[in-house]
Amino acid sequence: MDGIAGRACVVTGSTKGIGLSVATSLAEAGADVVISARSARDVERVAADLDAKSAGRVVGITCDVSRVEDCQELLGGAVEELGRLDVLINNAGVGIYAPITELTVEDWQRQVDTNLGGVFYCSKAAVPHLMESDDGWIVNVGSLACRNPFAGGTGYNASKFGLLGLSEAMMLDLRHHGIRVATVMPGSVNTDFGGSPASPESAWKLRPEDVASAVLHLLGYGGNALVSRIEMRPSQPPKG
Ligand SMILES: NC(=O)c1ccc[n+]([C@@H]2O[C@H](COP(=O)([O-])OP(=O)(O)OC[C@H]3O[C@@H](n4cnc5c(N)ncnc54)[C@H](OP(=O)(O)O)[C@@H]3O)[C@@H](O)[C@H]2O)c1
Repeated sequence: MDGIAGRACVVTGSTKGIGLSVATSLAEAGADVVISARSARDVERVAADLDAKSAGRVVGITCDVSRVEDCQELLGGAVEELGRLDVLINNAGVGIYAPITELTVEDWQRQVDTNLGGVFYCSKAAVPHLMESDDGWIVNVGSLACRNPFAGGTGYNASKFGLLGLSEAMMLDLRHHGIRVATVMPGSVNTDFGGSPASPESAWKLRPEDVASAVLHLLGYGGNALVSRIEMRPSQPPKG
């Protein structure tokens, strides 16, 4: 399939931040999009708003990606609503920063279950449908924390290092089934993530639109090229 228009896409964690920007860019380009997150009210509001101003269909399905049944219902529901599946964007994630001395078992589990487990559950449910597509894609939103440990990153680094391993192993398997898998790894993005709210003082950070632009760029690749990893950094961070 050429271009984004008409592709059937699911974006997890798409009511705010990076996911919202990716979903908006896909809808503006004419794709059919499923919006999803845990808050049903946010999912309904964002889906209705985007659907009203987009060429393609935009529908909402509530999903907590740390719950395997939710992920199965999300992908099954997407195919029911849109008729097929071409693109899965695994974006939903949480950041709880604390050293091992302070990180609770619950916060460890929440990060691993969401940032890593959710990608596995959604991808597993998506793959049989993506195999039917003539241009199937899974794009995983990782982080520079996929490769760079930082103090306080016990749970976040573990989940994101695991995500990169999962993503690249899937990439090697799924290319033989006509599905491309890529990991986008941004540095700091100006969103309400990990306890630090978006702010004008953080205008030096990447914008959610910068990450969306990288995702859409990836989806434009075809032919024999499989671009499997993009690292992104703010171009002019404060010197420190
Ligand atoms: N911001 C950064 O500096 C940065 C840098 C690198 C990578 N990233 C990665 O980018 C992704 C998105 O981050 P963001 O900054 O856009 O975050 P955000 O502004 O906090 O938005 C997170 C989105 O994910 C949803 N979400 C959270 N937990 C979920 C769950 N268990 N199941 C389904 N949806 C869930 C949220 O809605 P609900 O709360 O309603 O579920 C929301 O729509 C994450 O994977 C993050 O690790 C962020």
